[in-house]
Amino acid sequence: MNAVLKTIGIIGAGQMGCGIAQVSADAGYKVQLYDVSDERVQHGLATINGNLARHVTSGKMTDDERSATLALISGSSDINDLAASDLVIEAATEDESVKRKIYAQVCPVLKPEAILATNTSSLSITRLASATDRPEHFMGIHFMNPVPVMKLVELVRGIATEEGTFATAKEFVASLEKTVTVAEDFPAFIVNRILLPMINEAIYTLYEGVGTVDAIDTAMKLGANHPMGPLQLADFIGLDTCLSIMQVLHDGLADSKYRPCPLLVKYVEAGWLGRKSGRGFYDYR
Ligand code: CAA
Repeated sequence: MNAVLKTIGIIGAGQMGCGIAQVSADAGYKVQLYDVSDERVQHGLATINGNLARHVTSGKMTDDERSATLALISGSSDINDLAASDLVIEAATEDESVKRKIYAQVCPVLKPEAILATNTSSLSITRLASATDRPEHFMGIHFMNPVPVMKLVELVRGIATEEGTFATAKEFVASLEKTVTVAEDFPAFIVNRILLPMINEAIYTLYEGVGTVDAIDTAMKLGANHPMGPLQLADFIGLDTCLSIMQVLHDGLADSKYRPCPLLVKYVEAGWLGRKSGRGFYDYR
């Protein structure tokens, strides 16, 4: 555990927030999980419990260890409950206006020395920092999905991030037994700068009729040794998130090679957001 950090606040009880909460508690940190409604918080806690229960079944964890990890996580829909946090990681939806509203609510609640980090997968850290009262204590800590399984975390400094903030975040990530990679503050950083154009190209491949969903995913699984086909992975990430990352790349780098595929736009407009909505390139209902 990091000596400076005792309590980790997590904003957002979706798949990323819950994953970060789980791995933080697993490493021994007290975790305060916040979302806007009790229903979302309870759903998040149930997801974490389910993940830990799988670890007990597979023999990776004892039932006592599961209970001890769970006991470190509290859930709340009252933002004031984040007041004791030494580090808060915002893992809300990938929408800049939503994140800005959250920062306006949470900053007055936090201790002056608390670090505020964002799990954004694409947005400018410097711009987000400007919406807080602590740009020097603000940075990007970008986990990959599913958080408990994926070994990598991208760290991104904003223009004003202090070295002490960065060093604390780096130590925190190491204490979770994850590997850090450092990215500069460019649209979508490293992983999504490379991954999302590949997924977008797979959607173009479907749109243009080059192959079926099954053909494209099988081709990339068996032909390129990817653990999931790109369309299955898009459903897993969330098609709304994929679209928003492509839009950030397109707007931020002003290159037509990042144009979101019209089929991706259509699916999102239809509310077909992938696994979380029950339908995407595959049907999960
Ligand atoms: N949450 C927590 N744990 C999960 C999980 C989930 N959603 N899904 C699977 N796991 C765990 C399982 O419990 C299992 O753990 P144990 O070995 O401890 O039992 C392990 O993962 C393997 O699971 P399975 O055998 O059921 O499934 P699999 O072998 O097919 O692996 C996978 C599943 C790990 C998700 C694998 O398909 C994979 O690596 N897919 C690619 C994931 C990827 O590329 N992620 C990056 C997305 S991009 C991103 O995150 C950046 C962004 O900002 C958008």
